[in-house]
Amino acid sequence: MGQRNKDKESHAMHGSKVVGYYDTETTGLYLTGWNRDHIHFGLFEPGECPKPNEWFRDSEIHARAMVRMVETTVAPAEIERQHHVVDAGCGVGGAVIHLARSRGCRVTGVNIVPQHLPFPDHSVDVVLNIESACHYADRRNFLREVHRILKPKGKIVATDWMARDGLTDVQYERYIEPICEPYALPSLECPASYREILAEAGLEVREFEDFHGKDAANVQIVENACKLMAGLMIGGIRTPELRRLYGQIQPLHEAWSGGYFELRRYCAQKAA
Ligand SMILES: C[S@@+](CC[C@H](N)C(=O)[O-])C[C@H]1O[C@@H](n2cnc3c(N)ncnc32)[C@H](O)[C@@H]1O
Repeated sequence: MGQRNKDKESHAMHGSKVVGYYDTETTGLYLTGWNRDHIHFGLFEPGECPKPNEWFRDSEIHARAMVRMVETTVAPAEIERQHHVVDAGCGVGGAVIHLARSRGCRVTGVNIVPQHLPFPDHSVDVVLNIESACHYADRRNFLREVHRILKPKGKIVATDWMARDGLTDVQYERYIEPICEPYALPSLECPASYREILAEAGLEVREFEDFHGKDAANVQIVENACKLMAGLMIGGIRTPELRRLYGQIQPLHEAWSGGYFELRRYCAQKAA
């Protein structure tokens, strides 16, 4: 699937597309319409699944689900007080602020870095990466950079958007490509291609997991948003912004509910 990386556009062009995507307006929309600290999906306990048409904006359940996602992602890193944790693609810093408060560790968040991670070789204990590498034009280079900055036995812990393993080209084109353009993703890895590029970068996979169904409520959230927007458009509200949002969320819903798209987390370690 990594080979499906579209080389049609240069990395620089893709970079400016991502910067455009995360402009003040889009980020502001996420912060007001999703969660004020985190721009990622959450993990839900049984009984917390939203009902059809229920919107979770700023609810306590949604906020807890965000933190649960951070905790589940970082768990294999066993972060301790003396560690330096770098969040690559930190958004507005919700995860690193949570880690600094809960672990007392040193944290640094970086956002939209073009080529190199701005840290010396062998200087970082843990790299965190939540729903960010899916945007990178060159994920191989990113993982090489992670390997360079990690101390021996340092770990990367990450959650990312992925295509299901084993999709045919036709399924990838039908269900995954329609997600890529509106979310500024050059392509999506699948778990197998992720394992390959981690190994190529010299990072040994320790865990590669799904979320045991705790991410399933997100599909309902996405469906609710989709139906709400479709209802508004049927009701005659056809603003360009609403059309744009619907054009993002509808293909994501189709791919996720059909099992073509998934969220996965992994932990990989640099050798001693
Ligand atoms: C879906 S948001 C996730 C933000 C954050 N990790 C969170 O969970 O709240 C994706 C983030 O990746 C960042 N990003 C995209 N391309 C990047 C790049 N090349 N280098 C660093 N950050 C990047 C964006 O600025 C955005 O903050």
